[in-house]
Amino acid sequence: MLRNVLPRVPGWLGKYCLEKSHLASTVPSDSHHPFIPMKICCVGAGYVGGPTMSMIARKAPDIQVTVVDLNERRIAAWNSDVLPVYEPGLDEVVREARGRNLFFSTDVKGAIAEADIVFVSVNTPTKTYGVGAGRAADLRYIESVARTIAEVAKTPKIIVEKSTIPVRTASTIQEILAAYPGTAKCQVLSNPEFLAEGTAIADLEKPDRVLIGGERTPEGEAAIETLASVYGRWVPRERIITTNLWSSELSKLVANAFLAQRISSINAISALCEATEADVDEVANAIGKDSRIGPKFLKASVGFGGSCFQKDVLNLVYLCEHFGLPEVATYWEGVIKINDWQKRRFAAKIVRSLFNTVADKRIAVLGFAFKKDTNDTRESAAINVCRDLLTEHANVVVYDPKVPADEIIADVCGRGVSPNPRLSVAKTAYEACAGAHAIAIVTEWDEFKTLDYEKIYAGMPKPAFLFDGRNITDLAKLRAIGFRARGIGK
Ligand code: NAD
Ligand code: UGA
Repeated sequence: MLRNVLPRVPGWLGKYCLEKSHLASTVPSDSHHPFIPMKICCVGAGYVGGPTMSMIARKAPDIQVTVVDLNERRIAAWNSDVLPVYEPGLDEVVREARGRNLFFSTDVKGAIAEADIVFVSVNTPTKTYGVGAGRAADLRYIESVARTIAEVAKTPKIIVEKSTIPVRTASTIQEILAAYPGTAKCQVLSNPEFLAEGTAIADLEKPDRVLIGGERTPEGEAAIETLASVYGRWVPRERIITTNLWSSELSKLVANAFLAQRISSINAISALCEATEADVDEVANAIGKDSRIGPKFLKASVGFGGSCFQKDVLNLVYLCEHFGLPEVATYWEGVIKINDWQKRRFAAKIVRSLFNTVADKRIAVLGFAFKKDTNDTRESAAINVCRDLLTEHANVVVYDPKVPADEIIADVCGRGVSPNPRLSVAKTAYEACAGAHAIAIVTEWDEFKTLDYEKIYAGMPKPAFLFDGRNITDLAKLRAIGFRARGIGK
């Protein structure tokens, strides 16, 4: 084993450069290969930082991984039995590694100073003010981390952009690092994350690919190899793709834009299906059998949500405008416009079906998370649906198995604002549906597929309506019970 022979920083970076060809051909998916003891720090203990670093800690027990965040509550939760992120399988991974080689801390500077590799996994939301408001990414958190690194980095480090950022952000980080006297020489890499919430552990365990972008210089190549060797513990080498910095940064935005585009495409077709008696699931199945199109991401819905699709497509739109490509910007903006329209269309269909008024009617909203198996509600279509129904003076009762009541109320009504008395949260789906004039399924939680709909129907005023915004129920069976049941694109 080279592990005990090779020196740690600062020499290891150069050693990796020398060992590069060896590593490139030998990084296997098991744990028996050369490693230099390393310390990793990740700034940002959110949906990406927490699970990603937990997986690295599990797969590389000899690497010390410290996840840091300014948010004390979040760090306390990572150190407790109730993790701040609900993700199937995550508890087990954290339990295995925490305290062994996985640590959660608020000592941001201390952890950066000690680390050989610093992942930057902070939030990059859409800017809400000034130039680019509503489109550009707000890079203030990225800049703040870059400045902290520049202040405390006295030994060479590899800085890894894990956050999703606009193309060419690495040059900003490099410029900030270069501006601080006394900062050690650091290499900046781009290593975007492709995990999806709800399947994060499976995605991390068996990623379709790991993308690493770096400078095409000997030092840059050495840094790429060092990071590749970390993933190489469990990811087959052929799945680790290396590119230049800008291709890697841009690929992340493009991947999300293509995925979001597929959903908007099928959602646009769902409206045409409703007008023509075609069935969108049948159409999706028929086109998805074409291997050039493929079956995934063709599920028509009430509209996509989540913290990233909208923000990343808008960021792409902004970049295209910035680089003088208005036609390209308009093309991608269409993805967001269709999504907004689809969310409004769902709520409007409910109102229209209920004889053009939902005032004082009870509407049960089943599901609030932006997709099943997560407690994340960011940009969830449920927020828009609830708001539209409240605007029509409906009494909205929400049930979600994982999202707490105060979160639901704050998301719909705003934080620090007095809640709308027409909005309430139920503890079970049955409680939400009791006495409801209509049910709207907004998140595809599995439990909504197997509810006792006969019992629910019996407790509703007639005609009883059900709007399945996820096409997860058997509409024919529901109609046989007596429901006026509608899906999306059917
Ligand atoms: P998040 O909001 O859940 O977590 C970000 C964390 O960074 C927060 O806890 C915040 O307190 C912390 N932070 C911000 N500034 C800091 C600073 N200066 N020092 C220390 N901590 C700081 O965000 P997330 O969902 O984990 O996303 C992070 C990035 O990853 C984003 O760019 C996002 O686009 C990208 N991404 C997210 C997902 C996802 O599924 N959520 C998937 C792929 C990529
Ligand atoms: C998405 C991407 O899938 C990840 O690869 C990426 O890393 C991540 O964004 C990110 O950058 O944050 P995520 O948003 O967690 O992951 O979840 P998805 O499974 O992509 O779902 C996004 C939204 O689209 C959800 O509201 C989902 O219900 C909806 N969706 C998805 C559909 O309406 N139809 C589909 O066929 C697929």
